[in-house]
Amino acid sequence: MTDLHSHLRARLLTAVTELGLPRAEAESLVRLDPPKNRDHGDVALGTFQLAKLAGKAPPALAAELAAKITADAIVESASAAGPFVNFRFRRGALAREVLSAIQGDLAPYGKARSNGQIVCIDFSSPNIAKPFHIGHMRSTVIGNSLCRIHRHQGATVHGINHLGDWGMPFAKMMTAYMRWGNEQELHKSPMRYMFDLYKRYGVEVKQNPALDDEAAAHFRALESGADNQERRMWRLLRDESLKAFQGPYTRLGVTFDHVTGESFFEDKMEAAMQRVTASSVLEDSDGAQVVWLKELGIKEPCLLRKSDGTTLYHTRDLAAAFYREQQFHPTRILYVVGAEQKLHFDQLKGVLTKMQEPIAKAVEHVPFGLVLSKTEDGKWEKFASRAGNAVFLDEILDESVAKVRSIIREKNPDLPNADEVAEQIGVSAIVFNDLKNSRIKDVKFDWDAMLNFDGETGPYVQFACARLSSILRKVGTQVPSVDAIDCDVLADAERVLLVMMDFGTAVQRAAEQSEPSHVTAHTIALAGEIHSYLRDHYVVGQEAKVRDARLVLVDAARRLLTTGLSLLGIKAPERM
Ligand code: ARG
Repeated sequence: MTDLHSHLRARLLTAVTELGLPRAEAESLVRLDPPKNRDHGDVALGTFQLAKLAGKAPPALAAELAAKITADAIVESASAAGPFVNFRFRRGALAREVLSAIQGDLAPYGKARSNGQIVCIDFSSPNIAKPFHIGHMRSTVIGNSLCRIHRHQGATVHGINHLGDWGMPFAKMMTAYMRWGNEQELHKSPMRYMFDLYKRYGVEVKQNPALDDEAAAHFRALESGADNQERRMWRLLRDESLKAFQGPYTRLGVTFDHVTGESFFEDKMEAAMQRVTASSVLEDSDGAQVVWLKELGIKEPCLLRKSDGTTLYHTRDLAAAFYREQQFHPTRILYVVGAEQKLHFDQLKGVLTKMQEPIAKAVEHVPFGLVLSKTEDGKWEKFASRAGNAVFLDEILDESVAKVRSIIREKNPDLPNADEVAEQIGVSAIVFNDLKNSRIKDVKFDWDAMLNFDGETGPYVQFACARLSSILRKVGTQVPSVDAIDCDVLADAERVLLVMMDFGTAVQRAAEQSEPSHVTAHTIALAGEIHSYLRDHYVVGQEAKVRDARLVLVDAARRLLTTGLSLLGIKAPERM
């Protein structure tokens, strides 16, 4: 919260208490949001819930509150509009408070002190021995941004890569490798080789269904815990996959606090099963063990152990939930996984709820939509590369970087370190495109739109940053401290300042709703406002008083855009 917000909030809390409302309950209901229409005010308070608490009609309460908030050194006016109260800050105070907080790197612009939250974020989590599914790319990008957003908000974050390195899908891969693979070929190009084997399995199993029995037998051998051929194979394929995933992770600036895949829970599943048994929700079903969840509105039971004694994806997620609870004491566990796994996470939460485990409340599935690509005849359909529904993430990043490199060659042939800049822009164009719209929407993978330097794109926001850096370089003097400038000069920059002021709300919403698009939208808005401000307000060549004030503004915009981009996992180049 900015100082402007906290000042106004404090006054509002005093006012509601004077009107006889219980302060403790009012506390969470006094929320100041950007109004729908900026002409109405700088911030607005919706009085619906407060009015309920007061037993009054919202418009009546709004009018009473507006009357109580008289002007002071910070607040210029308050006015009721139906159930809302709109507030306007004094322009000098707006500039001073916003700019000095940005310059001082204070929250919400800089990282907040601890907010007491502990957030586990389960993201990326590809299956080993297979290339990244395009959905894993979305999970990686969204999860990485959520880690950064929650850290910024002062939470303790545990970013977890719950690798798919156990279970039947992996056993199939192993079967293919044992039948048709060899280690020499594997080392040449591990992911492609494994993927080819996996595809071959898919083809051959249609002719020969017994392959699935073979895979099941290999999985039993692996789960037996013995140091056998299966175990050695598992280690080899896991190591090769991890090495291959590291490439895109590095390029995307993604790190994990814990790489604890499904195999990590191998020795923790028995205890988890005992806990389920003890809570007496486990039922027998033809020799398998399930938990029925009908009373929670979930038709299909959650299968935790098959009749041959082996465990499942679910069993490991249950063990993982208990493990995380005991290790990290999380307030929230976010599972950044595609919408197609909704049932899986409903069931996981359902089992924990039925067991009356407190951790059930912390479990939150963070679903997202598909990636679509354009077909030859211009229709949008589920993203598919030559290799079927899988992609080599590295190839996609390379393609984007190559396209940017040729744009730079055309537009700015003398740019020093052009390769480095092309890498930054190419990678971030994809990231930005992914985080631009609300995550549940499908993402259109359209090169022209993604790489358009004038559209609502990563390159556009990065370009805004570079332009601000270039102005600062041109002026050449040090950016003065906010205390040393005349803030009234910036009355003409109120639109820029108001967007800056909204940053805290955007980040807070992003954290609450697991929705990085609020941050993306903020960077677009700020880049747009500062661009249009600078169109007819020059910095270079102005008298000192004006130049200094605008210099502070430009520097603040550059800092805030850089922060916004970094919350998305995107770097801001100095030149481009
Ligand atoms: N490996 C899984 C898949 O590719 C995603 C795992 C998501 N995380 C989890 N805790 N289940 O579908």
